[in-house]
Amino acid sequence: MAFDSIRIGRWDLPQRFIMAPLTRNRAGEGQAPGELNATYYGQRASAGLIITEGSQPSAVGQGYLDTPGVHTPEQVRGWSLVADAVHAGGGHIVVQLMHAGRIAHPDNKNGLESVAPSALSAPGEMVTADGQKPMVTPRALETDEIPGIVAEFVDASRKAIEAGLDGVEIHAANGYLLHQFLAPSSNERTDAYGGSPEARARLVIEVAKAVAETIGADRVGIRISPSHNIQGVLEEDAVDTAATYESLIEGIAPLGLAYLSVLADPATDLVRDLRKRFGGPVMLNSGFAQVTSLEDVENILEQDLADVVAVGRPFLANPDLVRRWRDDTALNEPDQATFYGGGAAGYTDYPTLD
Ligand SMILES: Cc1cc2nc3c(=O)[nH]c(=O)nc-3n(C[C@H](O)[C@H](O)[C@H](O)COP(=O)(O)O)c2cc1C
Repeated sequence: MAFDSIRIGRWDLPQRFIMAPLTRNRAGEGQAPGELNATYYGQRASAGLIITEGSQPSAVGQGYLDTPGVHTPEQVRGWSLVADAVHAGGGHIVVQLMHAGRIAHPDNKNGLESVAPSALSAPGEMVTADGQKPMVTPRALETDEIPGIVAEFVDASRKAIEAGLDGVEIHAANGYLLHQFLAPSSNERTDAYGGSPEARARLVIEVAKAVAETIGADRVGIRISPSHNIQGVLEEDAVDTAATYESLIEGIAPLGLAYLSVLADPATDLVRDLRKRFGGPVMLNSGFAQVTSLEDVENILEQDLADVVAVGRPFLANPDLVRRWRDDTALNEPDQATFYGGGAAGYTDYPTLD
């Protein structure tokens, strides 16, 4: 089943696994993608659909060092190099729009102050150019600033299309800004964007609606990770979590988005239930605990837990993963030491079978 074709949103895909978003911290000057990034993504065009690394829709939305943005003219020019390289190889590519919220350090973004639903800092430390530094307490967004956040996602989506990318994925997972709104542990707001599951889901729905209206729902995906409990964004009350994500799906289901991407244990009732409620294509990834194998992909598809599977580290280390899995040949092992930052080593130099 993994090698069956499938249509997702606007895209006809040659197989039912695609390349998952992978932060690589190798943007160039002005947080713009360059030739090196175009080479990396172009090498992986046979994935059919590539979801890029998390990319900030605004300068303030940057969290980590050297992540690409989608908000300046030079970044748009950089993304067009990437889009051209992937299209030349016959693939499609959507940019993952990631506003990091409180998972950020001012040192990584020219001193800009981080914003979040509430003034609650994340646990732990953040890598900066001067080494690890403790997370900083973010400023709570004022209610009248929320339309500005929606506008940042809309503007970045427009720029993505202008650059020739095929669409966007709204990142509402893994503890970043939109996920910070969804979870009670990071959202203590008392306005319309906090306090109840419905209110916590409101911003994500507003972003999805506005982006879909701007560039067309069939080129917009969204990623969620219910109960991922990562980066201090905790969702430990199962009843509350279910209510929050049910509200979210109820709000976005009528839009007809290209796909819903879920990062979670595939076999849970919640994932099955959300898939039913969403009604459209669901993409699944079972998380960081173990590296996705072809067998995992086949199991997910055969049990009909999802329509398509997002595959991360195997694509990172194998530009020609599709061929290797199809031919049952040996795989390159991903090298963790070069995941985040650096140059071509561990990025564009993983060998192909040829
Ligand atoms: C180096 C690295 C960077 C990642 N960056 C992102 C990211 O930017 N956005 C995101 O949603 N997930 C990110 N993830 C999670 C992956 O998309 C995926 O869910 C995870 O790697 C587990 O799948 P795998 O076993 O197929 O690698 C990242 C994972 C890794 C290993």
